[in-house]
Amino acid sequence: MSIADTLTELETRAAALLDDAEDAEALETARVEFLGRKGALAGISKEMGRLTPEERAQVGRLLNGVKQNLEARYETRKAGFERAALDARLAGEWLDLTLPAPGPRPGRLHPLTQIMRELEDLFTSLGFAVVDGPEVETEWYNFDALNIPPAHPARDAQDTFWMEDGHLLRTHTSPVQVRAMERFGAPLRIIAPGRVFRNEELDASHEHTFYQLEGMMVDRHVSVGHMLYFMKSLLAAIFGREVTVRLRPGFFPFVEPGFELDIQCLLCGGKGCPVCKQSGWVELLPCGLVHPNVLRAGGLDPEEWNGFAFGLGLTRLVMMRYGIDDIRHLAAGDLRFLRQF
Ligand code: PHE
Repeated sequence: MSIADTLTELETRAAALLDDAEDAEALETARVEFLGRKGALAGISKEMGRLTPEERAQVGRLLNGVKQNLEARYETRKAGFERAALDARLAGEWLDLTLPAPGPRPGRLHPLTQIMRELEDLFTSLGFAVVDGPEVETEWYNFDALNIPPAHPARDAQDTFWMEDGHLLRTHTSPVQVRAMERFGAPLRIIAPGRVFRNEELDASHEHTFYQLEGMMVDRHVSVGHMLYFMKSLLAAIFGREVTVRLRPGFFPFVEPGFELDIQCLLCGGKGCPVCKQSGWVELLPCGLVHPNVLRAGGLDPEEWNGFAFGLGLTRLVMMRYGIDDIRHLAAGDLRFLRQF
């Protein structure tokens, strides 16, 4: 076979391979085979040394033509593959700059904080001052001054977190009653919201840390009627509707008479659920008239002054208002929970 024939045959084969290459890799393989430095065309040009000058000129021209033809086909296919690759990438990375930006995510107040602020508003509008007391208390303020004798079960080591130095974590907000009387005297109207601590078994309705809101009014001739008026204003403001309540006698050493104000469970409507311990009622508002010994501990003369006090379970209240069935959600810090308020 003459060189010219070999070239023609090679051109046909190479053209088909380049034109039909399925992808960039196959195209590159074909290029190396024919157009590469050690490829078929390079092989032929090496053999040209054996030709006569006339033949060499003729074959040289032919070879150039074939080379240009194949290179052109190669470049065309290569550009095609590059464009396809770019198109695919652009399609994948496409970004719609006209889409609206995601809105800002504002922070929210914890539901407990919200209720606390509402109640502070309500009671300040009724002439009450908002006061604070320490969370680490003395035995005197937490118990003795509140007429709780040393043998009272409330002092049981099971319920109270004792510090090594004899202090304790307050088990209720009632110590603020005595601190407020000492500080401000009478007449007195205060509320004291805050954290309290009890060494209790944890379950859906018990935490070792929870919130109460203490209220106290001391004046001349304060009656249970006054107390009920404030209790009812409070509940109406919180729930924004009538709630069914019941008043039971309740025993607390620092009030006489003492009451338990229960509300019908708003979670189950009174049918019974874990939060109301299947009873249909939730203890929400223990209250009563301040015991003379407590007035005395606060430096007031019980012949001249009397008053009422209540200790609202803020944590329970939040659960009732929002239908939260497990107290542990409140301190879990789960944003999916908190964003709902
Ligand atoms: N301190 C009481 C408690 O935590 C509640 C209470 C407060 C009762 C004020 C009567 C008056 O259980």
